[in-house]
Amino acid sequence: MEPRIVPLIVRESIEERAAAMAHAMAVECASERPLLVGLLNGAAPFLMALVRHWPAAGQAGLEYDFIDVKSYVGTQSSGHVELVKDTRVDLAGRDVIVVEDIVDTGLTLHHVLALFKDKNPKSLKVCSLLKKRVERLHEVPVDYCGFEIDDLFVVGFGLDFDGIYRSLNYIAVLELPDGKEPE
Ligand code: IMP
Repeated sequence: MEPRIVPLIVRESIEERAAAMAHAMAVECASERPLLVGLLNGAAPFLMALVRHWPAAGQAGLEYDFIDVKSYVGTQSSGHVELVKDTRVDLAGRDVIVVEDIVDTGLTLHHVLALFKDKNPKSLKVCSLLKKRVERLHEVPVDYCGFEIDDLFVVGFGLDFDGIYRSLNYIAVLELPDGKEPE
């Protein structure tokens, strides 16, 4: 039996929320050249939505870059995150906003923020499209959150299951046959 995808957040709502978040960030970010840093691959569509909706007056000065990390949770309860691709842009002295697709256990962001703090940015904020209502392994500050969702496995708008469903332009709950939970 095929997995079922049940729409949860439609494209229009995502775009509307991304526009509101882009406006809030543009207003609150003191720098004239804020730097958005997205986590590949999941945050790419959301980061591009933020860029598209950034107020016209600040668009020319807005920069973005990407990092790629690998998370291993396995046997270590604390987990481990390895940086596979670093930013091209130097973060020192910059107003950096980390852009993530979803915050679940907080493990990934906890490690990324620690890494980034060592690079001496002027300021460091977090913007995530989704945040799960769960008990986190690491409490991480999410300065800008698109939507809070229940503890469900979701796909679409960058989020994948084994590499698929990323390109859906909406967010859906993935229901596996036999009620199994995606890992
Ligand atoms: P954390 O490190 O547990 O906070 O999880 C962060 C990463 O896990 C995200 O960037 C996603 O790649 C992945 N992830 C967590 N929950 C989901 C989900 O519901 N769908 C797809 N990927 C998820």
